[in-house]
Amino acid sequence: MHPAMKHWRARNGCLELGGQSLTRLADRVGQTPFFAYDRQLLDERVALLRGCLPVGVRLHYAVKANPMPAVLQHLKPLVDGFDVASAGEMIAALDTGMDPAAVAIAGPGKTDSELRQAIAAGILVEIESENEARRVARLSEDSGYTARVAVRINPDFVLKGAGMRMGGGPQQFGVDQERVPELLGQITSAGLQFEGFHIFAGSQILRSDIICDVQRQSVELVLGFAEQARRPLRYLNIGGGFGIPYFPKDEPLDIRQVGENLHLLAERVSERQPQAEVVVELGRYIVGEAGVYVSRVVDRKESRGQIFLVTDGGLHHQLAASGNFGQVIRRNYPVAIGNKFDAVPTEVASVVGCLCTPLDLLGDRCELPAAEVDDLVVIFQSGAYGRTASPSAFLSHPTAIEVLV
Ligand SMILES: Cc1ncc(COP(=O)(O)O)c(C=O)c1O
Repeated sequence: MHPAMKHWRARNGCLELGGQSLTRLADRVGQTPFFAYDRQLLDERVALLRGCLPVGVRLHYAVKANPMPAVLQHLKPLVDGFDVASAGEMIAALDTGMDPAAVAIAGPGKTDSELRQAIAAGILVEIESENEARRVARLSEDSGYTARVAVRINPDFVLKGAGMRMGGGPQQFGVDQERVPELLGQITSAGLQFEGFHIFAGSQILRSDIICDVQRQSVELVLGFAEQARRPLRYLNIGGGFGIPYFPKDEPLDIRQVGENLHLLAERVSERQPQAEVVVELGRYIVGEAGVYVSRVVDRKESRGQIFLVTDGGLHHQLAASGNFGQVIRRNYPVAIGNKFDAVPTEVASVVGCLCTPLDLLGDRCELPAAEVDDLVVIFQSGAYGRTASPSAFLSHPTAIEVLV
């Protein structure tokens, strides 16, 4: 069994979600395709993190991974803050009642209107360029609200082993490490409220040794700059990038090792910068494994010896499972026939969506129990970067709805 499926149970042969069978849930939802996210799995994941991370390290949720309002509301009392990437995400985050002091906005290309909203809300603005710092200073002065800022650093070290690299080398993210001292001067003379630094080196890392190494380098880099800033550091966001196993050979991340390393780093930070709060920001690791994407078989056909299960879903809802969201080599996400969850695989079938493109392949030659029209196909590991990271308008099919169970 794929490690991703171990979190899930069957009841009377059918996948169980939120204490009920998938077939009943599908009736309750009233349509396929849909995404379902499991509260209990979210709780268990946060509890696992809390058990491994040092007590003082703050756990932020990166809203971009899954901004469903009910998910945010559920996570609000479980995490210490939200990281947002747009004014839309900021509004969703603040709607939960999260303290604005615990919300930060990062990302290239923040518009003046987004910055104005962020400054007025009192959330932390993570500055990604000298030009952005000038705009923040102007908007802060015009509005009369002092902007709270941190500097996002583009480090000179390069991250290996990440699904997506977002630091090191030339980047649109953050300010190059060598230009940070000058930027700090600019921030001070503009009278902005400087709180600290942010480094986000990459996403979907499954190797704990790599994560430990990046976090170690990030802490050293930031502690060096903190002394130059000549103000006590309050905020030290060392990113995250904790990965989840999607593909058959993926090994789950050794979160305990990451936690042990963070204990050492947190001690080092508290010796040098006692007021600094170390923050890790996680999206995929918190929500990715708690969600499934469910579609229904509308046709079963055979073509030259190959079986195709044609569903009412597709890459317009779950782009990543089709292999078209940054993957170099297409591999299958874990897939099952949800209403035959504990049946033994008896055939090899490909699961495809309803779009007129060969790219719309959700499972390539998967070993599955024999499936018929109306059976429910479940794609696991769909809680993060699913619905909102997919081209839902493509071919004008209905959008997928989302439920939290
Ligand atoms: C700045 C920042 N923070 C957090 C995340 C979330 O990453 P993940 O979902 O891999 O935890 C991203 C992802 O791109 C990011 O760019």
